[in-house]
Amino acid sequence: MSKPSAVAETKKQVIVLGAGVIGLTTALRLQESNDYQVEVLAELFPTDLKNINYTSQWAGAHHVSTQERTPDVEWLTFQEMWKLSEPGSLAEHCFMRIKEHEYFDSPVLQTEVMARMPNFQKLPQSDLPIGAEDGYSFDALTIDVPVYLNFLLSRLLEKGGTIVRGRVQHISQVLEAGTYPFKDHSRLVGRNEPIVPPHAVFVCLGLGARFLGGLEDHDMYPARGQTVILRAPWIKSGMAFHGDGANRWAYVIPRRSGDVIVGGTMGINDWYPKARPETTHEILEYALLYCPELVPLDFRETERLPLVDDLKSIIVEEACGLRPMRKGGPRIELDYLNTRGRQVPVIFNYGHGPYGYMASIGSANMCLKLLKEAGF
Ligand SMILES: Cc1cc2nc3c(=O)[nH]c(=O)nc-3n(C[C@H](O)[C@H](O)[C@H](O)COP(=O)(O)OP(=O)(O)OC[C@H]3O[C@@H](n4cnc5c(N)ncnc54)[C@H](O)[C@@H]3O)c2cc1C
Ligand SMILES: *[C@@H]1O[C@H](CO)[C@@H](O)[C@H](O)[C@H]1NC(C)=O
Repeated sequence: MSKPSAVAETKKQVIVLGAGVIGLTTALRLQESNDYQVEVLAELFPTDLKNINYTSQWAGAHHVSTQERTPDVEWLTFQEMWKLSEPGSLAEHCFMRIKEHEYFDSPVLQTEVMARMPNFQKLPQSDLPIGAEDGYSFDALTIDVPVYLNFLLSRLLEKGGTIVRGRVQHISQVLEAGTYPFKDHSRLVGRNEPIVPPHAVFVCLGLGARFLGGLEDHDMYPARGQTVILRAPWIKSGMAFHGDGANRWAYVIPRRSGDVIVGGTMGINDWYPKARPETTHEILEYALLYCPELVPLDFRETERLPLVDDLKSIIVEEACGLRPMRKGGPRIELDYLNTRGRQVPVIFNYGHGPYGYMASIGSANMCLKLLKEAGF
């Protein structure tokens, strides 16, 4: 028997806190399921200027899984993103399919995760750069993050989801009356709107989970990542060199736009919110060892090694972002919180650290499943 249409009209109101890649992907997944009416409440959205409180704007980003963190979450995301990046797909413009080369300064013992990637190959010793002991190539994809975030937002709005801007101080503010207190009530639409307590709340605040009243997750800490964005449309493949027990690390992520992200650093508990000039120099110097092709043709000389100065004219931006790390790994979990005698299911989805894009679709699916299994 099919559901009467009246049921479809009374969708369950859910709130998603946060509009980073995790919040937007979770919101879109819920809205597309047709059972929920989603409102995203966040302080910052993809259309805003880049801000240190919004990690998703700073990511590379690529989908290159070399290790499995949350079982199936990353693999499922890869498969979905691969479909989205297909020629002719609605989101094709957000992605670039590339050949990825991963180099290591010591032999890799477990290659199963990498081996799932299309056209996976172990590289012969003769193809490895100086200093590398082991290396692999496979097909992967990169994400043009500003474009993709705006795609997610547009898609959510198109599917009937809504957004509200606001900074939440304490989770109870949302449990009681949803986004109502965050709306501009001088407008007629705000005043006449009924106060609907939310059916469920999703917490997708990234590093903000450390500061939200009523949650204050002190297992959250930043891993600062500094990068340099170059204009180098001639770079069509990705590269990473994992050196010094993964403490020193160079990567090159070309985007479809022709920009190339060069990294990287992993500053544990480093909150400094701007690019450090000396780090920019170190990043470029190290990347040039493994990817001298970054230098524009006009500056390429056979007489000498490439220099950081050769890249000066193509620097677009020096960037840094704070990866939302969590002791014990990401939190994907349902709990109940009490507000004025009512139990509200709250689903947490944060702490994805260096792989929020890679985990985005898989973790959004898990959240939807948690809510359904709890009978909502
Ligand atoms: C240099 C760098 C490179 C990276 N490369 C990759 C990569 O190649 N692949 C990959 O998968 N990942 C990569 N990452 C990691 C990825 O960027 C993060 O895991 C991901 O962006 C986290 O997204 P999020 O939605 O959890 O958090 P965020 O993007 O930080 O979003 C948080 C949202 O919550 C809102 N918010 C917070 N507190 C409040 C509050 N109290 N009230 C209202 N709103 C609030 C914010 O305004 C924002 O909308 C990289 C990160 C960096 C820094
Ligand atoms: C980031 O958020 C904090 C509050 O947690 C605020 O004090 C700071 O001004 C914000 N930074 C920017 C650049 O907006």
